[in-house]
Amino acid sequence: MTKNPTNVWPVDLPLQLDRGAGSQVLRIYLALRDSILSGRLPPQSRLPASRALAGQLGVRRNAVVAAYERLLADELVEARTGAGTFVAPSVPVGVVRPPTEPTVETTAAPTIFALGRTHAEPQIRDDLRRAVARHLRHFDDAHLAYGDPRGSRALREQIAAHLAVNRGILCDPDHVVVVSGMQQGLRLALGTVVAPGHSVWMEDPGYPAARQAIEGAGARAVPVPVPVDGGGLDVAEGVRRAGAAQAAYVTPSHQFPTGVVMSMARRVELLAWAERTGAWILEDDYDSEFRYAGPPLTALAGLDRARRVIYFGTFSKVLFPGLRLGYVVLPPDLLEPTLAARQAMDRFPPTLLEGAVADLMARGDLSAHIRRVRTRYRHARDLLAATLQGHAEGRLQVTVPEQGLHLVARLIGNPPPGTAARLQDMARIGGRLLSETRIKPQAEDGFVLGFSGHDLAEVKAGALRLCAALAEGGAADVTPPRS
Ligand SMILES: Cc1ncc(COP(=O)(O)O)c(C=O)c1O
Repeated sequence: MTKNPTNVWPVDLPLQLDRGAGSQVLRIYLALRDSILSGRLPPQSRLPASRALAGQLGVRRNAVVAAYERLLADELVEARTGAGTFVAPSVPVGVVRPPTEPTVETTAAPTIFALGRTHAEPQIRDDLRRAVARHLRHFDDAHLAYGDPRGSRALREQIAAHLAVNRGILCDPDHVVVVSGMQQGLRLALGTVVAPGHSVWMEDPGYPAARQAIEGAGARAVPVPVPVDGGGLDVAEGVRRAGAAQAAYVTPSHQFPTGVVMSMARRVELLAWAERTGAWILEDDYDSEFRYAGPPLTALAGLDRARRVIYFGTFSKVLFPGLRLGYVVLPPDLLEPTLAARQAMDRFPPTLLEGAVADLMARGDLSAHIRRVRTRYRHARDLLAATLQGHAEGRLQVTVPEQGLHLVARLIGNPPPGTAARLQDMARIGGRLLSETRIKPQAEDGFVLGFSGHDLAEVKAGALRLCAALAEGGAADVTPPRS
């Protein structure tokens, strides 16, 4: 037989089987497919006989035969009777990268003080498991077909009842849309009320994920940074900077990240601006359920006579972010366009968890859980604040929030940029830096530290590490004020 260099098996081809990727057949198939598509096995080359390749790779011969069949089905190889299996004459070479690329090593980020973690106490895990099991037992056609783009009626009724009692919002369950978290709700609403190039007020400092949604695909709007002071978003400054903005994103019940509660005067001022100009208020009420002192101020949506407020709530804080469940309460005018956008996005939410969470609400399990974890979170907040205040030796200004699941510790004396990040690394702590939440860079920096969902001993240990880092490596930059 004449040896044609293009149709012999290149014996030195280093065929690497990925140990992690599924069955033996799949691994052989993927290795060959990538060799063909990256050009290392050129068109017309002859693949070895299945027995030979099985011997070379130390795998079952049947597995090689099955992998060849998959390549045949993909039309990447062809079988020539009596001659063997060959790479097809024309394949789209170069569409995959050769698998010899160096793997990027990722090191796990420290998790202590990470935001967005909640405490999965045994009781609520059991309650949730039981509720899901009940719903699985009665999983019938109604759950298996396409559903209402607003989500299940049962859950929407529970949400409307919860909002009436706890947030002073009276809404029709038909105006509630169940979404996969606030983030999806915000994207949906932005897509309905703003167009690319429109301006949206954004608290500065503020929630980075909301800013991404404002700037990102779909909305492509321009966030206008509006400063936050002790009364919350500075409405007058917003009017000065962009009075004709189409919308304002706000976290009035517990400003992210500062923890400031928007004063009633500011609430009224913001609503009046929206009524006057026809702007929309995007009210993110993300952790209003966790208040440690006194009753909460009523939500903007509860005061909104002109129907300019789009209200967002989430189960990520009262339960778990992994559930991906949140809700939007829409003014009547926005219902139709938002539901049309939802249909075009993911149609409607998955039914199983909706039913289970509606059950938790109806049976009082969720309220009981909130009461229990609120006490735990208050202890965690107090422990974190006391440890920082007791050991930072005047290098941190700690704001103890009356609400929410994180606190802010500011570095005293505005040390050079990069100091907070360096201290964070030295102390091996997670969470955010205050500077990461800024739209307009400022000299001030510090730490946004989540205290929910962490072991209390770890909270204390993390706080002590931060104080030690401040005293040690940060000493050059972070000097306590002279008394
Ligand atoms: C300001 C703010 N809003 C909303 C959320 C919740 O987002 P989602 O419902 O998409 O999980 C978070 C979570 O960390 C948050 O910090």
